[in-house]
Amino acid sequence: MDSPVIRFQGAKKIYPMSGETVEALKGVDINIYSGELVAIMGPSGSGKSTLMHIAGLLDSLTEGKYWFDGEDVSFISRDQQADIRNKKIGFIFQSFNLLARCTAQENVELPMLYQRPAPSNLHQKSMEALRMVGMENRSSHLPSQLSGGQQQRVAIARALINDPTLIMADEPTGNLDTKTGKEIMNTLAALHKNGITVIIVTHDHEVGQATQRRIFLRDGLIEKDEKQAQVSGLIVS
Ligand SMILES: Nc1ncnc2c1ncn2[C@@H]1O[C@H](COP(=O)(O)OP(=O)(O)OP(=O)(O)O)[C@@H](O)[C@H]1O
Ligand SMILES: [Mg+2]
Repeated sequence: MDSPVIRFQGAKKIYPMSGETVEALKGVDINIYSGELVAIMGPSGSGKSTLMHIAGLLDSLTEGKYWFDGEDVSFISRDQQADIRNKKIGFIFQSFNLLARCTAQENVELPMLYQRPAPSNLHQKSMEALRMVGMENRSSHLPSQLSGGQQQRVAIARALINDPTLIMADEPTGNLDTKTGKEIMNTLAALHKNGITVIIVTHDHEVGQATQRRIFLRDGLIEKDEKQAQVSGLIVS
C-alpha cells in the first residue's frame, strides 16, 4: 500500500491558557491515504479545527508524531511548514477569505505569486482553475459582485492553483444555504474523482453522508472511524 498522505501517531495538542491548559487533542492515531475523501465530524469543541490546522501545517503538535506525504514534519520550523503548505496543500474556509479589492482571477492567483511565475503562465493557470469550478465567466468580478456559493467556488479555485496533494476544507458549506452547500459538495466530490485527496471538517451530517470515510472526534479523541462503500448521491434538485 502507498504511504499515507497524513499519518498521526499519538497526536496531542495542548493550548496554554492563562495558567491553565486546554487539551484539544488527547492522543489521536490517523492514517489518510492518497485519493481519499474524508469527513472529520464531531460536536463543537471536539478538536476538529485543531486537527485541521495541524494537519495543514498551520500549527504544530505538542506531543506525538506527524508525517505528511511520507515526511516527518513533527518538529519542522515555521518556514519549512509554510514551504510545504504553499506547494502541497490547498485550504478552503467557511468564510471564503477572499481579498475584497481583488478580482476573482487575482484572488485565485495569490498563492502562485510566491513562485514568481511568468504572467502568461499565471493567467493560464488561474483561468484553468476557474474553469474547473465553473467560474470562468466571472473572472473579473470582485467578491462583492458574487453570491456566497460563487465566492466559495473562487476560494476552491484558489486552493487548486498550485496543484496540491491535499485539499482541506473547514466547514466549507457552513455559510451557505442547503442547495448551494450541495453544489459546493458536488464540486469537491468532482475534484476527488479527479484524484485529489480531500478532507472536509463539517457539522453537517448530509455532507458526511457524501464522503467515503467519516472520522468522528469527541473531547479530543477519535470516537469512530467509519468507511462506507455506498456514498449517497448529491444531486442538486
Ligand atoms: N488557540 C486556542 N487557544 C486555546 N484553546 C483553544 C484554541 N483553539 C481551540 N481551543 C480549544 O480547543 C478545543 C477544541 O477546539 P476546536 O476549535 O478544535 O473545536 P472544533 O471541533 O473545531 O469546534 P467547532 O465545531 O465549534 O468549530 C476547544 O475546547 C477550544 O476551546
Ligand atoms: Mg471548528
